[in-house]
Amino acid sequence: MEIRAIDTRGLDWTGDALAIGLFEDAVELTGDLASLDEKLAGTMQELISETEFKGKPGSSAVTRVGSNSPIRKIILVGLGKQDGLKLDALRRAAAVVARSAKKERCKTLALSLPIFNDDASSTAQALAEGIHLALHQDNRFKSESEDKGPALETVDLLGLSGQDEAITRAGQIAAGVILARELVTAPANAVTPITMAETAQAIAHEHGLALEILEREECEKLGMGAFLGVAQASDLPPKFIHLTYKPEGTPRRKVAIVGKGLTFDSGGLNIKGAGSGIETMKMDMGGAAATLGAAKAIGQIKPDIEVHFISAVTENMISGRAMRPGDILTASNGKTIEVNNTDAEGRLTLADALVFADKLGVDAIVDLATLTGACIIALGDDIAGMWSPDDALAAQIAQASELAGEKMWRMPLEEKYFEGIKSPIADMKNTGPRGGGSITAALFLKQFVKDTPWAHLDVAGPVWSDKENGYNNSGATGYPVRTLVNWVLGNN
Ligand code: BES
Ligand code: MN
Ligand code: ZN
Repeated sequence: MEIRAIDTRGLDWTGDALAIGLFEDAVELTGDLASLDEKLAGTMQELISETEFKGKPGSSAVTRVGSNSPIRKIILVGLGKQDGLKLDALRRAAAVVARSAKKERCKTLALSLPIFNDDASSTAQALAEGIHLALHQDNRFKSESEDKGPALETVDLLGLSGQDEAITRAGQIAAGVILARELVTAPANAVTPITMAETAQAIAHEHGLALEILEREECEKLGMGAFLGVAQASDLPPKFIHLTYKPEGTPRRKVAIVGKGLTFDSGGLNIKGAGSGIETMKMDMGGAAATLGAAKAIGQIKPDIEVHFISAVTENMISGRAMRPGDILTASNGKTIEVNNTDAEGRLTLADALVFADKLGVDAIVDLATLTGACIIALGDDIAGMWSPDDALAAQIAQASELAGEKMWRMPLEEKYFEGIKSPIADMKNTGPRGGGSITAALFLKQFVKDTPWAHLDVAGPVWSDKENGYNNSGATGYPVRTLVNWVLGNN
């Protein structure tokens, strides 16, 4: 499929489907739209009346136009209220249109949507992202593809000529989001620490990044006792992945992205019981998946910023070799941890990954992890929690996420709650009281970062979506690749 930016007006365009965006409570056809409707013998007005189309966000209506028309179908798409329009509303509208055009078996499609804030570049990028992401269908695990019918061949973004770079950028970012989705979707017998390392290798090879994979012995030498404690019950070797993107000249900034990479989380000896969602725990590498997705995008975009992509990848399993509840582990910064619950394993793997990232001398570290069920209780399925002691970094990430349409909410790093994870015999325990469970998790991570500005994202909810919504299909979302890319590029 090719997405093109052209200046043809809807009135003059020829093809299978023309999509028109309409604001809520402003669905009167005036100006160019009135002329277009006249040309289409009143089809648009009829469609609005018959379907009682109100322009609500996410709504759409489609109809066939008379047979001699240069346009076969008209798709109306709702944009919501004009006041306070967000870029993401356009991304979603483009997605709704793309799905509708595909269902209608269109090969050529044009979108006539408003430009956000006079910013043609951001608009073109968001529209193209919405189209790519909505059309992505994963058939890898079906014996026969369910992706039947003709494919969309061209999509024209009307009134956006000159925005070819933005469209290319959208394709690069979408490729990263789709990689993250596919990694999260694949079950734990297909995505293992070994295949995660292979995926990192493929990214390094395709986009010219440097790759370092630390095997178990090297992790031992570095004293990564927390990560290896989690890994010790698995029959699969742990892999510590460190991908580096370096720009050609002197980098303007150096940053690290650290993702939780549990390819399966059984809970360990504190095994997850009935109703715990154990069968969904293939998604526990969602942080690592988004880290690799961001690497794929950044590797193509090639900014003047050095970026380290890090994940300590393993499974949390049970066996005679498993770490026991009550065991004490020593992390690579020398801190000791009493493991009072083997199901709080993500923070153990992240502890050593954060120490590693901190030693790189970067300007900022962001970690992302499907860390706690408690964060889902606090913020629901669609919103990630964000913690940072650094207001400037928190503001950068909040703005990057707003632009990306990936919701997150800053949560308190309430130091007093650290009392809940104090241990009588070690430096800390890995879990505290039930209340504020996502906060104590964040405070635990903080023990492994010295002075580098750091932010933690608990993405347990939004990496997965039970139902299709806008550009997200049901299942893995690829959250928060777009936010990470925006943040690295300084789009905030
Ligand atoms: N991977 C889970 C968190 C999770 C839960 C992710 C639901 C996605 C959906 C994590 O390792 C975990 O098991 N956390 C425990 C922590 C508890 C033992 C303190 C939890 O949230 O129950
Ligand atoms: Mn767990
Ligand atoms: Zn986990």
